[in-house]
Amino acid sequence: MNIYDLAIIGGGPAGYTAAKLAGKNRLKTVLFEKNNIGGVCLNEGCIPTKTLLYSAKVYQSARDAAKYGVSCGATAYDLPKIIARKNKIVRKLSAGIRARMHEAGVETVTGEAIIRAKGERHEAQAIKCNGQIYLADKLLLCTGSETVIPPIPGLSETGFWTGREALETKEVPESLLIIGGGVIGIEFASFFNTLGAKVTVVEMTDEILTGMDKALSALLRNELSKKGIEFHLNAMVVSVNGRQIEIEKAGEKSVSEVSKILLSVGRKAVLTGFGLETLNLELFGNGLKVNGYMQTSCPGVYACGDITGFSLLAHTAVREAEIAVGHILGKNEKMSYKAVPGVIYTHPEMAGAGKTEEALRSENVAYTVKQLPMAYSGRFVAENEQGNGICKILESEDGTILGVHILGNPASEIIAIAGIAIEKGWKAGDLKAVIFPHPTVGEIIKETL
Ligand code: NAI
Repeated sequence: MNIYDLAIIGGGPAGYTAAKLAGKNRLKTVLFEKNNIGGVCLNEGCIPTKTLLYSAKVYQSARDAAKYGVSCGATAYDLPKIIARKNKIVRKLSAGIRARMHEAGVETVTGEAIIRAKGERHEAQAIKCNGQIYLADKLLLCTGSETVIPPIPGLSETGFWTGREALETKEVPESLLIIGGGVIGIEFASFFNTLGAKVTVVEMTDEILTGMDKALSALLRNELSKKGIEFHLNAMVVSVNGRQIEIEKAGEKSVSEVSKILLSVGRKAVLTGFGLETLNLELFGNGLKVNGYMQTSCPGVYACGDITGFSLLAHTAVREAEIAVGHILGKNEKMSYKAVPGVIYTHPEMAGAGKTEEALRSENVAYTVKQLPMAYSGRFVAENEQGNGICKILESEDGTILGVHILGNPASEIIAIAGIAIEKGWKAGDLKAVIFPHPTVGEIIKETL
C-alpha cells in the first residue's frame, strides 16, 4: 500500500499549485486527475477563451488598421485554424504543468479517485483509484465546479452549447443567443460578435456582469451594443422549441429565432461522485465550508478552489492552494479575499479589485469616488483610436483605497497594481509616492488618485 503525506483530488489550478508547492517542500504527494491536467481553466476555460479572444482582437486590429495609418488589404479569419492554435497552446501549457509536477517529485495518477471510509487499521485518509488504495496523512479536495443547467422547457431536447462546446466549434453560427450575461456569456458574446455572428444576450438581472462595478458594466454593455450585440436585461428564456426561443421581459413574451444557444448561467461546486459523503463535511452556501487556512470541518482534510463555491476564479484557487499547503507545512498565514481581481477579457477589457460601490453601500461604509476618463493616459490615447474608458477609485474617509475599477485596455494587466495597494491597505498617498513608468496606461491609476 502507498502512503503519502498529501493526497490531492483534482488537477486544476488549485490542485496543481498545491502539488508543486508540497512536492518542492519534500512532502510525499500524490495528485489524482481523471481528465487532462490543468482543469477547466486550462482545458476549457481561462486559457482557451483568452486564446480565441486574442485571435478575435488581432482580426479586429487588422480591420481597424487604417485608423492607425496602416493598410492591410482584405482581412479574413480561418476559424478551424483559430481553434487549432488554441488546441496547440492548451497542449503546450498542459505539458508544462506535467513537467513541473515531475520536477517537484509529485506522483500524478490519471484516474477517478474515490474517498473511502477510514478503516479501523489506519488513521490516514484512504483513496481508491484505478483499483489501488492510497493512504495519505492529509487530503486536499480540489474537484472544481460544473456548469449549472437550468430547467428551461425544451432546452435539453433542442440542444445547446456550454463554453466547452463553443470552444470547439468549426463554424461561426449565423445567430447566437446567450442565456446569462455573466463573465462567460459576455466573453463569448464579444468573440462571436467580432467574427460576425448576430449575438443576443438574455440576462435575468438589471445589468450584465453581476459583482463588477455596475456603472462600468453598463458602459461596457454600451460599447458592445455599438458593435451590434443585442441585450435583453430583466429578461428570461422561458422555453425553447427548436430554433424558436421564447423570452419573457416585464411580463411580456416574445419569440426570437436563432441558430445556436449558448448557456452560461453560472457554475456550481462539484460535491458528488468521489465519495465526499463518507467525510460528512459541513457545507457553506453552495460549497464546502472552510476556515482561513482552507481546512474543512474534518481534521486533516482541506479544500481549495471552486469546490468552496464562492469565488470560482483560477487566481483565487492558486492563492488558496498556497495557504493550504503553507498550513500543512506549519505556517500560520490566513486566506485574504480583500483584493481578488475580477477581469472581463472583452474588447475593451474591464477589471476591478476590492469593493464596488454597490458592496460598500450595502455594507454602509462611507466612501468617496475619484474618476477619470482613460484618455488622461497618453499611452491609452496613442493605442486606442476612438477608444472610451474610465478609471474609478473608491476611497474610505481616511484615504484608504477600497476599490479600483477600470474599463479600457489593458485593464487586465494594470489591475494588479490596484490589487497590491488594496491588499496591503495602502492609502492614496502611498500609491501616489510610487514611480510609475511613463508613458504607460497604468499611470491612469496614479493620475486618478
Ligand atoms: P456568472 O455567475 O458570472 O453569470 C451568470 C449570469 O447568468 C448572471 O448574470 C445571472 O444573473 C444570469 N442568469 C442566471 N440564470 C439565468 C436565466 N435563467 N436566464 C438569464 N440569465 C440568467 O456565471 P458564468 O458566466 O456562467 O461563469 C461561471 C464562473 O466562471 C463565474 O463565477 C466566473 O467567475 C468564472 N469565469 C471567470 C472568467 C474570468 O475571470 N474572466 C471567465 C469565465 C468564467
